[in-house]
Amino acid sequence: MKLKIVFVMYMVGLIVQASSLQDDLKTSIKRGEAVFKTCAGCHGKQGQGYKDLSPPLAKSDYLMKLTDEELIRIVKFGLEGEITVNGKNYNAKMPAQVFNDQQIADVLNFVRNSFGNSGTYISEKAVANVVER
Ligand code: HEC
Repeated sequence: MKLKIVFVMYMVGLIVQASSLQDDLKTSIKRGEAVFKTCAGCHGKQGQGYKDLSPPLAKSDYLMKLTDEELIRIVKFGLEGEITVNGKNYNAKMPAQVFNDQQIADVLNFVRNSFGNSGTYISEKAVANVVER
């Protein structure tokens, strides 16, 4: 009997934890939409990219293969050199984006869960942990 109660409490705990993570993701995505306006200047309103200059973020195979750390690093410290996105080569320079850690987490949660992309939650702490090499 006691064991049953412990088990039920444990399951309730798990569900509460999982749903609060879902809430975190939802509110972060909402905030990220505002931050994305800056990215849209180069990557397009729908993340479709711009000519040969800026690669797409929408359904980007390159983006989807990045680890959390690699993705955070691009926004925090910029990216330069040759890359291939959806079969097309780009060789340009993205400057580091000046945002705080929460804004970076928010915009990445937005990008990763918009325009046909889907990805897991990036926390503000994960962003803070990525430091310049
Ligand atoms: C000034 C223009 C500019 C802005 C603003 C900008 N980017 Fe970029 N971004 C680029 C360019 C150019 C590249 C490709 C760099 C290269 O060729 O190595 C790139 C590459 C990327 C990539 C990897 C390639 C891909 O398409 O998957 C990601 C992810 C990315 N940017 C995300 C963002 C996010 C998120 C923001 C907003 C916080 C942002 N960028 C703002 C110009 C920009």
